Amino acid sequence: MTTSVRRDRDRLAVTWHDGSTDEFHYVWLRDNCPCPDCRDPDAWERRFDTVALAPDVAPRGVQVGDGLLLEWPDGHVTPLSEGWLRDHAYGAVRRGLGVDASVRWDASIANAPPEVTFSEVHAGDDGLLRWLRLIRDYGFALVRDVPCEREAVAELAERIGFVQESNFGRTFEVVSKPQPENLAFTAQRLFVHTDIPNRHSAVNLQLLHCLENSADGGESLLTDGFEAARQLATSAPEAYELLRSVAVPWRYQDRVTDIVNRFPVIRTDDQGRPVEIRFSTALMAPLDLDAELVVPFYDALRSFGRLVRDPRLEYRFRLAPGDCLIFDNQRVLHGREAFDPSSGRRHLQGCYVDKDDALGRLRALERGLRGSPVG
Ligand code: OGA
Ligand code: ZN
Ligand code: ZN
Repeated sequence: MTTSVRRDRDRLAVTWHDGSTDEFHYVWLRDNCPCPDCRDPDAWERRFDTVALAPDVAPRGVQVGDGLLLEWPDGHVTPLSEGWLRDHAYGAVRRGLGVDASVRWDASIANAPPEVTFSEVHAGDDGLLRWLRLIRDYGFALVRDVPCEREAVAELAERIGFVQESNFGRTFEVVSKPQPENLAFTAQRLFVHTDIPNRHSAVNLQLLHCLENSADGGESLLTDGFEAARQLATSAPEAYELLRSVAVPWRYQDRVTDIVNRFPVIRTDDQGRPVEIRFSTALMAPLDLDAELVVPFYDALRSFGRLVRDPRLEYRFRLAPGDCLIFDNQRVLHGREAFDPSSGRRHLQGCYVDKDDALGRLRALERGLRGSPVG
């Protein structure tokens, strides 16, 4: 079967040689012209002015070959390859880019936690790609055999992108200390939580590099927040709805700053799927809700809190010196058991890196940077 096209008033219907059909509107085809006048060949950005596009634009001629060659009334010619058209046909981008490759997990992940070695990640793009895929799919990964040196954590983060500074600095030390500016800098137990939910752009990827861990206690805890959200949506749909819709004030304050923002516990996308979890009772400011929502909201919060702390969902493990944990703070909740600072030392060094940089690097590596992504 050869590819054929049918012209309609405002669109083309293309039936490919395998018998499947895609529709493309003329405005869309004209807007996506890949020629160097319409798309900058170096910057890969559109130069064509979409706003000036005539609503009734229609090609004068359509040729079918390896893709389409469209000639417009002003003589402009648009070549579009079959590969590009099929990759970008309506719905394809959403299916491709928005594919939820993520793997939901529970406590049984302990049998085979996602892990890579430092030398693998450091050596070349294959190791980096494997690491980034684990982060995308599981929301966390362990990097083994990282040199037990200060700032090695930042070096590791720089394999992905830029270290994201925060009010805790470029890197921060997770140690028990007097007058801690946050509860992580104590020896107390930390129930699983997400960090810095008070920031408008919550930190996405967090690295915690274990430099010393000889104190009794201090086991690490991780929970897949998306799996907990899925279970809540099934077991208590009203609770899920409240956590999705009620804006909670999150607040961090110390001597020099006071950062507050309102966001729901579970933020969902246009498909209703969870895309971000914010959960830290430590940083929840006094709730300011309609009176009749107060009790149902606390109930919902309790249900979710019990789920994320459920031993069936929690992955419990012990960081060894040289391990670096990286996790997606918008998906995976983290915590630790209390430790006894008189029995030994526990020292993690942490830093943050942007998830867009990680996923962007991943897509570019997967594309193999083979050339222009347009046309
Ligand atoms: C943190 C934190 C966990 C740990 O620094 O935000 O939660 O294992 N630390 O100490
Ligand atoms: Zn063009
Ligand atoms: Zn934390």
